[in-house]
Amino acid sequence: MKINTMKQTLIKTLSAGMMAAFIASPVANAGGGVHLEPADVDVHDKTSLLRGAKYFANYCQGCHSLKFSRYNRVAADTGVTDEQIQDIIFTRDADDKPTKAGALMTSAIPPKDAAQWFGTAPPDLSLIGRSRGADWIYNYLKGFHTDNSRPFGVNNTIFDSVGMPNILVHLQGTQDPVFRYDLMHNGHAEASFTSEEAANKALKEKLTYNVVKLGLMGETIVEKYPTETEAADFVASKTSYKVLLNKLEVASFTTKAEGESYVKATPVEGGKYKITPKSAYSVVKSHKIMKVVDHLELVTPGTQSPAEFDRTVLDLTNYLAYVSEPAQLHRKTYGIFTMIFLLIFFVFAYMLKKEYWKDIH
Ligand code: HEC
Repeated sequence: MKINTMKQTLIKTLSAGMMAAFIASPVANAGGGVHLEPADVDVHDKTSLLRGAKYFANYCQGCHSLKFSRYNRVAADTGVTDEQIQDIIFTRDADDKPTKAGALMTSAIPPKDAAQWFGTAPPDLSLIGRSRGADWIYNYLKGFHTDNSRPFGVNNTIFDSVGMPNILVHLQGTQDPVFRYDLMHNGHAEASFTSEEAANKALKEKLTYNVVKLGLMGETIVEKYPTETEAADFVASKTSYKVLLNKLEVASFTTKAEGESYVKATPVEGGKYKITPKSAYSVVKSHKIMKVVDHLELVTPGTQSPAEFDRTVLDLTNYLAYVSEPAQLHRKTYGIFTMIFLLIFFVFAYMLKKEYWKDIH
């Protein structure tokens, strides 16, 4: 009996612990609502990692460091010698000597100058694979497009007003954005249009000006009007005016004029009056048009075909995903060994349990 209660308590404690661990486990990268094309990275693909390392040294390391990584670690993990890795990702230090194999992978650019040139200093990318995730990096590198309103003439589909220039443009070619106009209602697109005129026409047909009242349960629509003036008139008819004297409410009137004449009629020595409108209502539009980038269109081809460029970006993404956690190459092997150990341990634990309980039954 006693042992049974002990067992029950133990089970309860264990399951509570497991529940707590489950609840506390971090929620995986929320995408932020933007649809990301999945990047099919494989950190065990060593040739892809080496290609990624090479692209990174050639195109990115001028600005971005990977300051938690060393060249010889990349060499060891990709199965090449220190000499080979120096041939692949050859850089020079401040004295123009070839970088040592054991050196940290710093960038050439002084952060202060960089911040001035680009508006923000290029961040170290050692952990970008973990903070942003591979899919994000992949879509970011493919998402540069022309935008004349930006200082470098480029913008990015998933990083609005990006400070980084389009570094891979000669490989990829130039992409123009093709816009779409969404008719938005209550936070979702009710219809989509390719031309702005068509969208505006649909908006005209649907749009109402709603007078809403803010209550405990959120906004409720009180009235709907076809024009903004009608809605505004309704709100004005429901608005009262507070007269404040030294920030304290002293009177309230249905029109502003009444408030003003009250103030005139009752002057106060050293007092300061203020008249403010008081209304529980406001006007919101039922629909609006949102201009979004629907897709990108290659207008001038680059030196690589779209398929080749996808490969290049995938290699870079793969490399950054690897760099952010080099141990992941071995982590899964540890897992398998642990499982095997637990299986063997289970046999002994079971035998021991049988031995202990032998006399109790
Ligand atoms: C000319 C300098 C320069 C080069 C070269 C460059 N970048 Fe950048 N990069 C920047 C700057 C500046 C930012 C910061 C952008 C911002 O915050 O608006 C940035 C931001 C990024 C980010 C987003 C970081 C974040 O989460 O905010 C990634 C990822 C990135 N770069 C990857 C790369 C890769 C991969 C390459 C090589 C193909 C590269 N960059 C080449 C300047 C550069």
